[in-house]
Order: sequence, then C-alpha cells, then structure tokens
Amino acid sequence: MPFFRDFALSIQLPLPYNPADSITEQIASSFQNSLTNLKTTYLDSYLLHSPCRTLEQTLEAWRALIALQNEGKVRMIGICNAYDVSLLHALSRERQVQAVQNRWYEENDWDASVHSYCRANDVMYQSFWTLTGSPSLLTHPTLLELAAAAACTPAQVVYKIAQLEGIVPLSGTTSTLHMQQDITVNEIELPAESNAKLGVVRNFIWG
Ligand SMILES: NC(=O)c1ccc[n+]([C@@H]2O[C@H](COP(=O)([O-])OP(=O)(O)OC[C@H]3O[C@@H](n4cnc5c(N)ncnc54)[C@H](OP(=O)(O)O)[C@@H]3O)[C@@H](O)[C@H]2O)c1
Repeated sequence: MPFFRDFALSIQLPLPYNPADSITEQIASSFQNSLTNLKTTYLDSYLLHSPCRTLEQTLEAWRALIALQNEGKVRMIGICNAYDVSLLHALSRERQVQAVQNRWYEENDWDASVHSYCRANDVMYQSFWTLTGSPSLLTHPTLLELAAAAACTPAQVVYKIAQLEGIVPLSGTTSTLHMQQDITVNEIELPAESNAKLGVVRNFIWG
C-alpha cells in the first residue's frame, strides 16, 4: 500500500519539545511526552536519535540522558547514527555508552569500526537496514544454502548471522508472519556441517 504509507509519512506531527528551549529542556520535555504516550513511568532504553551539530551540544544531550538514568527513569542509554568512534569515546568519558543503534549494511562496510568498538566495550550494538540495506547479502548463494539447510528464510539467516556477530538486529517488518519468524531467530541452530558456509558469508561481510 505505497500510497497510504507515503500519505502517513507526509503528516507533520508536532515536535514533542519546544525547539527554542535548551537541549536539556528539550530532552526533559520529549522524555515526558514519551512516558505519557507509552503510559509508563520509566523506559527500558532511551537513545539520542543522532549526534547534534557540535560535540558540545551532543555532550549536553548526553548529560541529560545520564541525569534521567541517575533518577531511575531509564535503564539503558545510548545513541543512534553514531559512526565516529571518537564520539563514542568522548561520550563514554562522561558515562559509558550502553547501546548504539546504527545502519549495518554493505554501503558503510558494515560499520566495522563502531561494531568493533561495541564488541570490545560490551556496548549493545543494535542494527537497522539489516535487510533492506544489503540485498546482495540477502541473496548471496551461500546464504541461500544456509537457509535451506536450516529450513528457515534468508531473512532469518541474515538476522541469525547478525546475532552471531554480537548484534541485536532490529526488525522493521509490518507483517505478523515475518515478526513471528524474526522472534524465533534466537532458537535457530545452524547445522554443524554449515560452519564452512558460515565462514564464506562472514568473509563476504568482513572481508
Ligand atoms: N534509529 C534510527 O535512526 C533508525 C532508522 C531506521 C530504522 N530504525 C528502526 O530500525 C528498525 C528496523 O527497520 P528497518 O527498516 O531498518 O528493517 P529491515 O530489517 O532492514 O527491513 C525490513 C523490511 O524487510 C522486509 N522483510 C522481509 N522479510 C522480513 C522478515 N522476516 N523480517 C523482517 N522484515 C522482513 C520487510 O517487509 P514486510 O513489512 O513485508 O515484512 C521490510 O520491508 C525499525 O524499528 C525502525 O524503526 C531506526
């Protein structure tokens, strides 16, 4: 239904904060709106959508998230669309970044440096564009063989391989069936004789 999807995207929702406010105030207001919308008193995870224009602004936003965590209002804090490891180092001098949510796909070389930083520092790396961004992975002949051997779909194998690389892949499906399949990825066991094929796919990703 592309028409309805485009129509929905064209609706301008009001900002959940006043852009004239300071960054700290914007986050306080946005956070309160999220609690109200989600009918809850705390959030499991609260991520800055992207770095701000300057490092100082990003640090101000990060300190606002730290304050929310200190107050017990959020459990995990992190940042999305952060592709520069030096930024993660700068934030972590204030408090360790606990989650990163980034594009994980072939066009950005699978975000190798940030992914590696996250693995080394026990940071949860959440991926998006995992399926849509990498059609050549999704249709890789060896990946298709792995899917056949494990009796699952190529999409499930991509998510499984992401998990094996220490990634939490986010599913962007709009389909109940696909979501059910995605939830079962945790339980998929690739047969032991698939190890060589797994190596081929890993090599395709990381080179
Ligand atoms: N932080 C950010 O800046 C940011 C940016 C973008 C996205 N996100 C979030 O990341 C999450 C993932 O979104 P994405 O678009 O990047 O997801 P994705 O995994 O790259 O792609 C989902 C697409 O793949 C299709 N698909 C086919 N088989 C599927 C299966 N088994 N499971 C899931 N999808 C399947 C879906 O179609 P069907 O609907 O037909 O299943 C949908 O078109 C979402 O929650 C999104 O909000 C965050």
